[in-house]
Order: sequence, then structure tokens, then C-alpha cells
Amino acid sequence: MNHEMDENAASGLTPDEEALLDQMPWLEEAGISRRAFVGHAIAGGLGLFATDLLEVEKAFASLAPSPGAVYAGQAMENIVRVLLNINGEAKPLEIDSRVVLLDALRERLQLTGTKKGCDQGQCGACTVIVDGKRVLSCLTLAASVEGKQIRTIEGLAEGDELHPMQAAFIKYDGFQCGYCTPGQICSAVALLDEARRGDVSHVTEDVSASTTRLSDDEIRERMSGNICRCGAYPKIVAAIQEVHSGRETQHTWAIVDETRLAMVRREIADETV
Ligand code: FES
Ligand code: FES
Repeated sequence: MNHEMDENAASGLTPDEEALLDQMPWLEEAGISRRAFVGHAIAGGLGLFATDLLEVEKAFASLAPSPGAVYAGQAMENIVRVLLNINGEAKPLEIDSRVVLLDALRERLQLTGTKKGCDQGQCGACTVIVDGKRVLSCLTLAASVEGKQIRTIEGLAEGDELHPMQAAFIKYDGFQCGYCTPGQICSAVALLDEARRGDVSHVTEDVSASTTRLSDDEIRERMSGNICRCGAYPKIVAAIQEVHSGRETQHTWAIVDETRLAMVRREIADETV
């Protein structure tokens, strides 16, 4: 062991702290010992931390609890109270003003149908409908949609009756892993309203029309912000096209139920007798 290491061990400082203090030759000139300086620095840091903590605690103590509010199990800063209207229900929340709608839905309200994919506006998995228009909930501050009508995948069905778009996705087998599906369906539902309003896209030919007829190209273009890693795109387009056009087509596949299975078993048994 060399002399320098002996000194470090004796001072109780780590090599990094020693290296840092080597950058401060003026300490010795000012007659301050290295150990005393480090001690004061740690005490100062803890003091600031404690002061900060006290301020947060004081902010919490000054808030009267809202009836029915959902609380997170961790300390928050920049607290705001919001009343969100989600799927027709008023949801009071006390949240950090920086919380995005996606996290408010999933983490605070347990509405986990809305999925987090990229969390940066690239994949569309988090799409919900706000005042009839699709938005990316990962890029939308929860506090900014107070007073608006928010619709998530959980709010599309009427009781036991699926929304026509949900039923069409099932009919056309428009999903595989299903992770992107809530965002795809919310996007598709709002897309039909866009077409009814005559909103144009990059591929719209007649931009003066008051409604837009959705060709497959229109659907592909308008759904291009919703990524499906399983590649269920053709079936998604078919499902949206059917709901948009109102022209029903036959199922192209069927789930094998117990009756059908029993028939097949009987046929096999007959053949092997
Ligand atoms: S999670 Fe919002 S766009 Fe990907
Ligand atoms: S169904 Fe799997 S990502 Fe779309």
C-alpha cells in the first residue's frame, strides 16, 4: 500500500472525494481542513433536501381531501386538482401538473385498456378520443383535457353490445397480439367522424367535398399513425371499410365451437370404423 492510499484511508474519504478536493487548492490556503469541508457539504445537502421535503409535506397538509379522489402512493409535486370526464363519468383527481393523460388513465384510474407503446408519440397505441377527435394520450397533459369529453376503449361498448368497430375487428380478425388494438379501434372510430366532417388527408382527391368517401388508400393514410407490429393491417383496413361503407360481407373464418368439434370427432370415428 502506498503512502497516498494510507492518507485517504486515514481521512475517511473515497478516492473520488480526494480527487475532487485535489481540484480545490484554495481550501488549504483558507485554513479549512478537507474533512471539515466534506462534512459541511454533506450537512448542507441534507439540509436543503429536508427543507424541500418539508415544503412538499406542507403542500399536502394544506389540501382538503376531495371526496372520491384517487391518490397515488408516492409524493407528488406541482399538485393540481382536475375533474376529468371519462366515458361519461366525472373523475376527480389530484395529480402532478406534468402527468400525461395516458398515465392518469392507467396508473391512477386503472383504465388499462389504453396501452403504452413508445411513450413518445410514435406508435399510436395510446390513442383515445377527446371531444370526438383522436389524440395521443402520451403527449397530452391530463390537466389540459379538463372539461372535455374523453372516450377510451372501455367506453365504446354499450353495455354488453360491442361498438360496431369492435365487432368488425373481431369479425375480420384484425389483431394478433392485440396490444395495438385499443388504439387502432379508437383511431378508427374517430376517423369515421373525420370522414363525415369532410376532413381531408394527404391522399384526398376532392378537397372541396363536405364528406370524404374512404377508399382503402384513405384508410391506410389516416391510420398510418397507428403501428401494428404484428402486421394485421389488411384486416384492420377491411374492418374499418365495412363499418364505413355499411356493406356487410360474410365471415371469412369461424371459431370452432364444441358442437362443430363433436361433429368432426364423429366423422373421424366413422371413417376409422
Ligand atoms: S405510446 Fe403514445 S404514441 Fe406510442
Ligand atoms: S396486433 Fe399485435 S401489434 Fe397489432
